[in-house]
This record gives sequence, structure tokens and C-alpha cells, in this order.
Amino acid sequence: MPPEYRIAELFEAASAVKVRAHVPYSGFPVGAALRDETGRIHAGCNVENAAYPEGICAEANAVGAMVAAGARTIVELLTVSDGDLVATCCGGCRQKIREFAGADTPIHAAGPEGVRRSYTLAELLPDSFGPDHLA
Ligand code: THU
Repeated sequence: MPPEYRIAELFEAASAVKVRAHVPYSGFPVGAALRDETGRIHAGCNVENAAYPEGICAEANAVGAMVAAGARTIVELLTVSDGDLVATCCGGCRQKIREFAGADTPIHAAGPEGVRRSYTLAELLPDSFGPDHLA
């Protein structure tokens, strides 16, 4: 599959789930979609909570959906959010992605109009701690 088409599929899935975000406190909906090692796409949105620290990021929910579906590898991931700035995954989500992704795994940050910047996981989380350290 050509890269543009792969990214377009992730963008569509992330945009579709973003509208379901539960964001009464921040008003900042985020959608995340990832492709697993079998080619399936898993998506998640952020789910906030009245007890603020209990809110869950979109990426965390997408990773959870992937694991629940029986997959274990993130091949590519995309997030979409609103606003003028490039919104990259938060630090905690970078580590959650790291558990199932490699240094070269592409991570795209999109706005409503499409991808704004693309990174590798290693660019977002250099010299990271991961499963290999415990092997
Ligand atoms: N958020 C995400 O879902 N992913 C990120 O990587 C950045 C932040 C959510 C958390 C919270 O619900 C809202 O965006 C504002 O921080």
C-alpha cells in the first residue's frame, strides 16, 4: 500500500473517533489510530474524568484497543486534534507506544486538514527505556 494511502486510512479512522471524545473539561478532542502487524487499524479518543488525573489520552485507548484485539505491534500511528499548533503525543503516551513499537515506527501529528508533521518514535522518545531492558 502506498504511504499516502496508509496515512489517509489512519487519518480517517482517527478523525472518525475524535468526534466521540469525552472532553467536558479541556474541550480538546483528540483521535488516535494505529495499524498493527496484521494490518488492522485500532482507534481511540481521549476520555476525561471529573477526577481530572483519571482522564485517559486518545493514544492510550488506541493502544488498549490493539492489545484487547490480540495484536502486539504498532506499525504506524497517527493522532489528530484541533488548534493551530502541531500537537504531538504527550510524554506518557510516547512511553506507552514504546512498549509496542520500534525506534523507526512512524508517528504522525495531524490537524483537521491532514498531517502536519511526521516523526519516528526515536525522535519523540530518544534513548528510551523499553522491554529489552528487562529481558
Ligand atoms: N491528550 C491526548 O489525548 N493525547 C495527547 O497526546 C495529548 C493530550 C488529551 C488529554 C486531555 O484529555 C486533553 O488532550 C487536553 O490535554
